[in-house]
Amino acid sequence: MKARKCLVAANWKMHKTVEEAVNFVKELQEKLPFREDREAMIAPPFTALSAVRAVLHRKDIFLGAQNCHWEDKGAFTGEISPMMLADIGCSYVILGHSERRHIFCETDEVVNKKVLAVLKKGLIPVLCVGEKLEEREAGKTFDVVKDQLKRGLNGVGKEEASRIVIAYEPVWAIGTGRTAKPHQAQEVHIFIRNVLAELYDNALASSTRILYGGSVKPENVDELMAEQDIDGLLVGGASLEVDSFCRIVSYRAL
Ligand code: PGA
Repeated sequence: MKARKCLVAANWKMHKTVEEAVNFVKELQEKLPFREDREAMIAPPFTALSAVRAVLHRKDIFLGAQNCHWEDKGAFTGEISPMMLADIGCSYVILGHSERRHIFCETDEVVNKKVLAVLKKGLIPVLCVGEKLEEREAGKTFDVVKDQLKRGLNGVGKEEASRIVIAYEPVWAIGTGRTAKPHQAQEVHIFIRNVLAELYDNALASSTRILYGGSVKPENVDELMAEQDIDGLLVGGASLEVDSFCRIVSYRAL
């Protein structure tokens, strides 16, 4: 039994029409066995959030968004606010995903504003951190991850921080088929827990859920979840098919 309740999140990125999203969720709710010790989150594109919410009835499956703006409303063409996400029944918001950081040039400062705004609306941020390949090769993994955590959590008080989920996603493992070896992920997860203990305290560090993301598949999920400090997963490509996602949520304890 894991020390923390497992969360397996599906990050659909820019995939699925409303109909495809709804059909997926209906099928998932039928197929996924209920387990006391784990829950799932689906983050469809913004266009499918309402429709997915309307068919979602299981208490162990939550709705998440993939991004948001930091203001509640205003002249921000093309943006969606945390208030709007709370209004349609989202529970989680993925923030600081490496695609947002690297393709859309989001800085830690921007990510931090979003984390604060999301918390203010009672939503749970899934704060993503992770090093690029060249940073890993230069031995900078821990520095990069620590920096992203410190900046991303700037101004977040202990009580609010206790609601946050962290996702460690080494950039070199996202969508590349190159998964971090379980012990490589575990090592960074422990490090993240230590940084949280430094920023807050041991109790918060040991209760925070830290997910791993980057080429998670049915074939590697069991060994990843066997690591003590991996409390769940953030899944991209392998979350687009119901059977594959179901198998990942139903990982087997080794
Ligand atoms: P992947 O994506 O599972 O396709 O590597 C993970 C993510 O980007 O969150």
